Order: sequence, then structure tokens, then C-alpha cells
Amino acid sequence: MSQTILVTGGAGYIGSHCCLELLEAGHRVVVLDNLSNSSREALVRVEELSGKSLVFEQVDLRDAAETSRVVCSHAFDAVIHFAGLKAVGESAEIPLQYYDNNVSGTLNLLAAMRKHGVRHLVFSSSCTVYGNPASLPIRENFPLSGASPYGRSKLMVEQILRDVARSEPGWHLMLLRYFNPIGAHPSGRIGEDPSGTPDNLAPYVMQVAVGRREHVRVFGNDYKTRDGTGVRDFIHVVDLVLGHIAALDALERTEGCVAYNLGTGTGYSVLEVIEAARRATGREIPAKIVARRPGDIPECYADPAMALETLGWRATRGLDEMMVDAWRWQKANPNGFHE
Ligand code: NAD
Ligand code: UD1
Repeated sequence: MSQTILVTGGAGYIGSHCCLELLEAGHRVVVLDNLSNSSREALVRVEELSGKSLVFEQVDLRDAAETSRVVCSHAFDAVIHFAGLKAVGESAEIPLQYYDNNVSGTLNLLAAMRKHGVRHLVFSSSCTVYGNPASLPIRENFPLSGASPYGRSKLMVEQILRDVARSEPGWHLMLLRYFNPIGAHPSGRIGEDPSGTPDNLAPYVMQVAVGRREHVRVFGNDYKTRDGTGVRDFIHVVDLVLGHIAALDALERTEGCVAYNLGTGTGYSVLEVIEAARRATGREIPAKIVARRPGDIPECYADPAMALETLGWRATRGLDEMMVDAWRWQKANPNGFHE
């Protein structure tokens, strides 16, 4: 059934891919984004790719009055809430800005939703809420812990959403805990466009492949993993956003607040990612082992069974496809959305 969806953070990496799938599924889309970590061009390309238009509102969630205006501007069936700051290292340097954007921004959004009678929401959480898990694969009922201001901001929002759901009936809230989203839309027109030096492995590897950086720094090869390097559950961004389409379909029958892992269930090591990138790009991609990055955990991958059972969703794209699609985007847009 066609719905009207408010997408906060819709100009960002995951949000722009989600807008495209929403439009292609026949939904109407309004994007709220302050463009603090994204470009208007991403949405222009989403409109080009889908042949459909969306409404864009350049608004900061920390502005309660403007947020409320947008929430009551359409009869929204649901909100998908991507907006927030996401760099773990930076969050330790500017924690107040992280709590302000991620927690206060969400409080404004929820107050506006409550006021205007919008009770369906899908929230971008992260596997970081599991900290360093005692066993693998990670299930939704594992203990939660926050290792950084970023991680704690996600935990706080999860807790707020659980409290809101308990406070009165009628809320339909989903916490989607993403594992490691990488890759790009197969058109090569939209993708991840990090500002400055990428923190995350996949965009860094792609920038080495395209010649913007000299070599990949492999953060430690002395973990107790199959080749000594870190292992993560990398998931194709298109699979991830299809999980949101499935979540929207299931939202009406979700009472209260429920969490789902969005991962593939398979872990790949840093060296395996670099090898896959070499295959996809045909480039050498030099790599050097350096010290471990403080705060990193050895290994992390999801048990995605709950999402399959309840949402009828599972990831289908493998690591090679993630790298081929990431490379198509990187090669065609070596400087991201900035021509
Ligand atoms: P992104 O930075 O590309 O997108 C976030 C968007 O939110 C940006 O367009 C930014 O301009 C906007 N934004 C930030 N603060 C805002 C505010 N106060 N008001 C309005 N707009 C604001 O990040 P992404 O990778 O697309 O991540 C989307 C969400 O998923 C985030 O909440 C992130 O924490 C979460 N997440 C991401 C990953 C990942 O690896 N990318 C993993 C787990 C969870
Ligand atoms: C990071 C965040 C996590 C967030 C996730 C998705 C940290 C500590 N964790 O996860 O909270 O949910 O991003 O955005 O930042 N690596 C290298 N060289 C690099 C970059 C990374 O070897 O240049 C290694 C890391 O040590 C790790 C793996 O690659 O083993 C993946 O790293 P990364 O892409 O940064 O994601 P996470 O650390 O899993």
C-alpha cells in the first residue's frame, strides 16, 4: 500500500538509497535534512533515477518549531529517522554536539509526532549498542553497552523509544540495528561520500583504489580471528534499505517497540575485504599492517533470523557485489558529489 513517509537524514548515505527504494515502491517521500553531512545533489540524482519527485525540507531537527511544521505539513503514515551524527572518534571530541543532534533532535521529532498524531517510526540504530559481545552471532536479546558518546547516544534513543512505547498504547516503533553498511546503488549515481579522511574501511579502500590515498592501514593483525585482522558483518546498502521497506510493511502489526538486527550473518576480515576490492577494481591496493585502533573489537556479526521471521527480509548481496558497486560509484565520482 502506498504511504507518505517522512525521511529524516534522507540526503545522507543510507537515507538517499532508502528514498530511492521508497519512490520505486510507490511511496511519497518528504526529506528533512540540514545537509550538515550530505549534499542536495544526492536527492537530485534520486529523483533522476526514480523518475519521480520528492519534497525536500532543509531543516535542522534541533529546531523544534521547524521540525513540528514539517511533521504537520503532510498526513504522514510513518517516519524513517536516519538523521544524526555518526563518527565514533569525533563523538569523543565533541560529545555535546553528538547528544544534541542525536538525542535532543530525536526528542523534538518525537514531540512533533505525538502532537500531530504520527505514531509509526523506524529508527537507525547500530550494532555498536552490543559493545564487545561475549559470543557470536549477535542476537537482539544480547546485553547492551555504549563504548563511545556516539554509541551511548544510540542507546539513549533506544531507551527513549522503549519508554515512549510503554507510556501509552498506539505507538509502532522499530529499532533497526545496522551492522556495517557498504557499497552503493548499482547505477553508480549515488553512494557514500565521506568528508575528509574516511574512518571506515570500505570508503578508505576505495579511495586508495582510485589513487586519492597511498595505502590502506590495516589496524592490527594479531586478533584471535582467522587471519588476525578484524571481522565484520558487511552488508550491501541496498539490502539494508530494502530491510526498511520490509519494516514499513510490518510496522502496523508491530505493537510497542521492537529491535531487529540488519546484517547478513556472515563475517569478513579486513584482509578479505581488501582482496575483494582488488578483484573488483583490478587495482593493486597496497596495504600496511599498523597498530590496533583503540576501541575496536575483534569480531562482530549478526544473527539475522528475527528479521527473516518477522519482516520476511534477508540480505542477498555478497561481498564481491558490494565491492563492484562501491567501485562503480567511486570511479565515476572520484570526489563524491562535488564535481
Ligand atoms: P550520513 O551522515 O550520510 O547521513 C545522516 C544525515 O543526517 C545527513 O544527511 C546529515 O546531513 C543529516 N543530519 C545530521 N544531523 C541532523 C540534524 N540535526 N537535523 C537534520 N539532519 C541532520 O550517515 P549514514 O551513514 O547515512 O547513517 C544514517 C543513520 O544510520 C545515522 O543515524 C547513523 O548513526 C546510522 N548508522 C549508520 C551506520 C553506517 O555505517 N553508515 C551504521 C550504523 C548506524
Ligand atoms: C564503526 C564504528 C561503529 C559503527 C560502524 C558503522 C568504531 C570503533 N566503530 O564500526 O560504531 O556502527 O563503524 O558505521 O569506529 N579498519 C582498518 N583500516 C581502516 C579502517 C578500518 O583496518 O582504515 C578495520 C577496523 O579495525 C575494523 C574493520 O576495518 O576491524 C571495520 O572498521 P570500520 O569500517 O571503521 O567499522 P567498525 O569499526 O566495525
